[in-house]
Amino acid sequence: MNVIVAGGSGFLGRHVVEELARRGHRLTVLARGTRTTPDTHDGNVETIACDVAAGDLPIERLRGADAIVNLIGIKRDTAAQTFQQVHVDAVRQLIELARQISARRFVHVSVVAARPDERHAYHDTKWQAEQLFKESGLDVTILRPGVIYGPGDDMITHLVKMIRFVPLFPVVGAGSSILQPVHVHDVARCVAETLARPETIGATLEVVGPEPMQLREVVRTVATATGLKLWIVPTPIWFQRVSVWLMNRLCSNPLSTPAQLQMLIDGMAGDPRPVDEQLGVRPEPFRVETVAELQRGIPPLFGFSLRLLGGSGYPERKGQ
Ligand SMILES: NC(=O)c1ccc[n+]([C@@H]2O[C@H](COP(=O)([O-])OP(=O)(O)OC[C@H]3O[C@@H](n4cnc5c(N)ncnc54)[C@H](OP(=O)(O)O)[C@@H]3O)[C@@H](O)[C@H]2O)c1
Repeated sequence: MNVIVAGGSGFLGRHVVEELARRGHRLTVLARGTRTTPDTHDGNVETIACDVAAGDLPIERLRGADAIVNLIGIKRDTAAQTFQQVHVDAVRQLIELARQISARRFVHVSVVAARPDERHAYHDTKWQAEQLFKESGLDVTILRPGVIYGPGDDMITHLVKMIRFVPLFPVVGAGSSILQPVHVHDVARCVAETLARPETIGATLEVVGPEPMQLREVVRTVATATGLKLWIVPTPIWFQRVSVWLMNRLCSNPLSTPAQLQMLIDGMAGDPRPVDEQLGVRPEPFRVETVAELQRGIPPLFGFSLRLLGGSGYPERKGQ
């Protein structure tokens, strides 16, 4: 198939591009171009720099596409881009594009946390996008992942940086919210399998790991993978909100955003069975061994560690 991958240069996008190219599809990646997308697929991946939310779409170059995968998203509102622009306006533009180039098939990646919610624009705009697709009359399948981990992710990268920086981890509340982390390879496989299965048109499928885990268990698994001692300290939610708000005011790449914090407070759980039954994908469990592999290349937070005893967990500092 000729597939347009909107947002194909991001964390999930790169893995989706890899998976679709491996299966022999010809791909056109649409992204503004803030990150590079090296074509390692014998010329089968073309990248076009464009702002989809602004409707800056090269229609003529996109004719001939059979399907569109939408992975465009942001984690926080900025002066440059709001949730409304990126999650809702961009979807309107893609639906219009699909009509103009007669590409009826869509795979839209939403999030398990999508819901109508005036207080939380991330959740609300992801939900609005789902409604636009459901009303579009196009051949749409919606995938709703939980928190995704894997090479280049936010979750393990940020946890490992914090754990190596200090031996105390301020967990959200009691750390009892439920997560089902799902490996990015499994999410990419779900996208590819969805495209291959027209019988999934009209379905909304949750894409989550097989085991519900408390947030503190997730943190403990990552700490075990680093080989470092960690005291997990419950902290009030108001304290977390203030810290994340400050981080977002002061840092260009904060460790967490208000939208991500809200998902940790609420949990991100789902049902893994429909994806197994309808796509034949059984996501792998969240294992210490996998995290131990992933944590190797992660650079230090601020370039140093405040751990005084027992090392910082950086292999290079242990002389390995
Ligand atoms: N990561 C997770 O744990 C997770 C969990 C559940 C659901 N999701 C959903 O999965 C999708 C992908 O997430 P991700 O983590 O891969 O995000 P990401 O790394 O931030 O990637 C976002 C992609 O969207 C592109 N983009 C942003 N604004 C754009 C615009 N105006 N026009 C064109 N392209 C634009 C980005 O490229 P440019 O910046 O160059 O434009 C990038 O390619 C999102 O919809 C997200 O909500 C993610």
